[in-house]
Amino acid sequence: MIELTPLGDGFAAEVTGLDLAAPVDDILRDDFVAGMDLHAICVIRNDDPVSDKHHLAFGRLFGPLMRQKMQQTVSGRGIRLPTDELIDVGNLDENGDIHTADDPRRAFHMGNLLWHSDVTFDPQRATYSMLAAHQVPPPGADTEFADMRAAYEALSPKMKDRLESLSAEHSIWYSRAVGGMAEVSDDVKATRPPAVHPLINVNPRTGQKSLYLASHASHVIGMPKDEGRALLDDLIVHATQPEFVYRHKWRVGDIAVWDNLQTMHRGVPFDDTKYPRDMRRVTVLERKPGGAS
Ligand code: OGA
Ligand code: MN
Repeated sequence: MIELTPLGDGFAAEVTGLDLAAPVDDILRDDFVAGMDLHAICVIRNDDPVSDKHHLAFGRLFGPLMRQKMQQTVSGRGIRLPTDELIDVGNLDENGDIHTADDPRRAFHMGNLLWHSDVTFDPQRATYSMLAAHQVPPPGADTEFADMRAAYEALSPKMKDRLESLSAEHSIWYSRAVGGMAEVSDDVKATRPPAVHPLINVNPRTGQKSLYLASHASHVIGMPKDEGRALLDDLIVHATQPEFVYRHKWRVGDIAVWDNLQTMHRGVPFDDTKYPRDMRRVTVLERKPGGAS
């Protein structure tokens, strides 16, 4: 049995009774899913960083894993982690040195400081992201999370009705441009074409609705661009009010698991050209585009 203890007064919980180095059976797995449906973010704390092998194996219990080479594609440089199923979210290059101020991979990571859910730019959405802290810089470098179920519930009935049939287009190149990254070539853009998703997600297990927004969402389908943009901006401001936000302070050995269909998140800036930060993410995808997780 796993135990869940709320973290602070936020909606997230700390999980105990789950050892990723030991086999995780179906009962434990389903317990964890139930915990995620309740809290949307569960943090597993360990004394030491999880091994890449156990991290990947835990992710595979919940669905196919995302592969990503975009940092390499945008920079033309090497890869630090042993497989492209481990997404490098830290600031270290292939030699273990801190990204320099002008490294394109740094500009790419800056996009993580905008409120987003992971991989909304892909037709196959991400369910769980599992971010493991291997090295945490002294100033902290926290991550903030917004509860998109509570944000949905707090909308007026009129707004809920209005959003029911709306979808947005999501593109990684849109959020990266907003984040200040230099334009990439059309060939690079073609590696990640945009995707369209409904603005409301329904949890297939609980029926609970949540807003599905992200920095990657550029405009609303069937609406004049400015009007759709204004709606998305208003919804993001609404959803990220302090009462919906939990701020996680990382410890080495933490694995934070968040449900991308029920939360948004963003990194908090720190002195990233000075202090090393080693964070590795495993990202679980829906089994089918638009299907249940
Ligand atoms: C991520 C992400 C933010 C951070 O791993 O998907 O956006 O604080 N991380 O590292
Ligand atoms: Mn992210």
